[in-house]
Amino acid sequence: MSYSVAIDGPSGAGKSTIASALAKELGILHLDTGAMYRAVGLKMLRLGIDFSDEDIISQILEKTDIDIKFEDGKQRVYLDGENIDSLIRLHEVSKAAASISGLKCVREKLAQAQRKLALKYDMVVDGRDIGTYVLPNADFKFFLTADEQVRARRRYEELKEKGQNIDYNIVLEDIKKRDKMDMTRAIAPLKKAQDAIVIDSSNMTPAQVVQTMISYIKERL
Ligand code: DC
Repeated sequence: MSYSVAIDGPSGAGKSTIASALAKELGILHLDTGAMYRAVGLKMLRLGIDFSDEDIISQILEKTDIDIKFEDGKQRVYLDGENIDSLIRLHEVSKAAASISGLKCVREKLAQAQRKLALKYDMVVDGRDIGTYVLPNADFKFFLTADEQVRARRRYEELKEKGQNIDYNIVLEDIKKRDKMDMTRAIAPLKKAQDAIVIDSSNMTPAQVVQTMISYIKERL
């Protein structure tokens, strides 16, 4: 039997960094589910599809192949056979992913693929709806959060490092908008699972967050 650790939380809470470090400590894989929403966003962006046109998006999705591979333990995302890891963090793709993530057809397709992977491998899975919807029986559930200002600052630094010069206030507004979209969507909105442990990372280093999680997991293993 495989085991899974679900980490949910808002944009910029550090889920990806933490999930990746935690997976390494535990010697298991890390599945970043946001990357899959980004892959769908990128495809629709390239095709110039209206992000609210669920009929068309649903038809396109039927013929779309989103494949997650683990190469040397690292996740790689393939869209119709093309590796798209270098494209999915672009600001435009983030916006597209946020828009399409509200659609039922998108969520169902991706959740199904995520459950399949979690059955096959021991994994730390990060996202918005992992503990509540994708893997309600996950062995461990964490809800990782941080103040919106702290999250915006982290996202801003991350984008700057990647050479994207974008105003901090735009990043902050985007974070607020994305939080609202994530928390108010009809299907699988972002919310804490009843049995999730909440960790506020505003004043914690990534190492401290990982240690907190490890202590919790080891106590129960
Ligand atoms: O975590 P991220 O920023 O890479 O996620 C990209 C977008 O996908 C974000 O707008 C939220 C959405 N998402 C989601 O709705 N459900 C998930 N499990 C993961 C991401």
